[in-house]
Amino acid sequence: MSSIQTHVTTGAHESAISAGASELLANVEALLGGERDWLANLANVAALLPAHLQDINWAGFYLWRQGELVLGPFQGRPACVRIAEGRGVCGQAAVRRTTVVVKDVHEFPGHIACDSRSRSEIVVPLLNDATLLGVLDIDSPSLARFDDADRVLLETVAHHVVRATDWPDFIGKD
Ligand code: SME
Repeated sequence: MSSIQTHVTTGAHESAISAGASELLANVEALLGGERDWLANLANVAALLPAHLQDINWAGFYLWRQGELVLGPFQGRPACVRIAEGRGVCGQAAVRRTTVVVKDVHEFPGHIACDSRSRSEIVVPLLNDATLLGVLDIDSPSLARFDDADRVLLETVAHHVVRATDWPDFIGKD
């Protein structure tokens, strides 16, 4: 990622974000501009992430449906379909309603290994005000792949996806 810094004011966070990150955010905005369908938007963002993030092996969404996380659009190997509240990194991010960054998945109690190549992981909740819609989950084959800049960037992506999309009634329900 470039070390050139630029100021981004379009997302949840107003912070210094690298040029590479700005390009990702610009592409997310362009892809979602004029389209509010949840499935189309999640599918396109899942496809966009591996094109912009180095060294990842899985990127995608789980949606909060009737009290559990259910697999949504993703890029990567087939993954577990349902994750109960509180289970794994995804379930913990959902319960805590905050981003969880895991430097070494083998050190995370209860980590769910969908892809044995994964070594580190970041899970960002999709929140519409207080309502949990789901999570954005990204895995890397490298230890400690995700830093605070990645967290800010991916929280901004998640915020934009939430705002740019019309959510059907069956997503975000207990
Ligand atoms: N590792 C996740 C499960 C989802 S896969 O990584 C795609 C977890 O522990 O919740």
